[in-house]
Amino acid sequence: MQEVDVLVVGAGQMGRGIAQVCLEAGYRVALADTQAEGLARAQAALVASVPEAKPRLHALHWPSAEPLRAGLAIEAGPEDLAIKVEIFRALDALLGPDAWLASNTSSISITALAAAVRAPERVLGLHFMNPVPKMRLVEIIRGLQTSDAAIAAGRALADKLGKVAVLTKDAPAFLVNRMLVPLVLEAFFLLEQGQATPEDIDTSVKLGLNHPMGPLTLADFVGLDTLLAISEVLMRDLGDDKYRAPVLLRHYVAAGWLGRKSGRGVYHYDAQGKQVRA
Ligand SMILES: NC(=O)c1ccc[n+]([C@@H]2O[C@H](COP(=O)([O-])OP(=O)(O)OC[C@H]3O[C@@H](n4cnc5c(N)ncnc54)[C@H](O)[C@@H]3O)[C@@H](O)[C@H]2O)c1
Repeated sequence: MQEVDVLVVGAGQMGRGIAQVCLEAGYRVALADTQAEGLARAQAALVASVPEAKPRLHALHWPSAEPLRAGLAIEAGPEDLAIKVEIFRALDALLGPDAWLASNTSSISITALAAAVRAPERVLGLHFMNPVPKMRLVEIIRGLQTSDAAIAAGRALADKLGKVAVLTKDAPAFLVNRMLVPLVLEAFFLLEQGQATPEDIDTSVKLGLNHPMGPLTLADFVGLDTLLAISEVLMRDLGDDKYRAPVLLRHYVAAGWLGRKSGRGVYHYDAQGKQVRA
């Protein structure tokens, strides 16, 4: 039976980044995805960035038919409750009740995900920032059922990865996105209202607030589908109109303009994800 330390489910930008930092820290990692092509791309990129870790990286088609042992699973699938519940149920069946089960969700309730498995006390949120290798923060989220031992396991992992952990209770979008998402949505409203160009909206935040990146550039970087999903969780679960999504954002997502990952969002990108002129 294949044995690893960490199983990462979802080989998108976040899953790949989490796999990378785990490999760099010396862990044996399995990376899983439903999309064979995306999985192969992520595997190739990981081997290129951490060549010495090649023997410690195992790629897995998800849901997995092969038996696997892992002490910790980190779910990094799409920001969609139904998909995440399905992944958690599959993780429970695959790894049994002794593994720590974490979600990298940006906004979805850890308590609700924990309710889908046999040992909800072993479920926690581990919210990494994008890009994972560069960003030092990890939010550790305590669901209603999460045990102290699970929080300690999350802290131990963050330490080993060289990250700084902050602990938060389970509430929609936790700490970082609860503060960030209203700012990014407001930038979209300004764009929708034609108040300024995207470049000037971004420049005002970069130079006026000393942020490393403007909010519209950041939105493209996060993924507009993910941003919309977070705003919908905030809006639904907190019931405050200030979290509503601008129609322009909905239209971009409906058009498949998801940001850097799809080549077009507010801005345009080349195949390497570099911003280019339209
Ligand atoms: N993008 C960010 O900046 C950011 C930052 C922190 C956390 N997050 C969170 O991390 C998670 C992943 O975000 P992302 O930006 O990597 O998304 P992404 O769209 O880049 O990747 C999602 C991956 O999940 C795969 N997938 C789809 N359905 C699946 C299933 N049923 N089982 C397994 N895999 C499946 C897709 O093929 C894709 O590779 C989300 O919950 C998101 O909210 C994102």
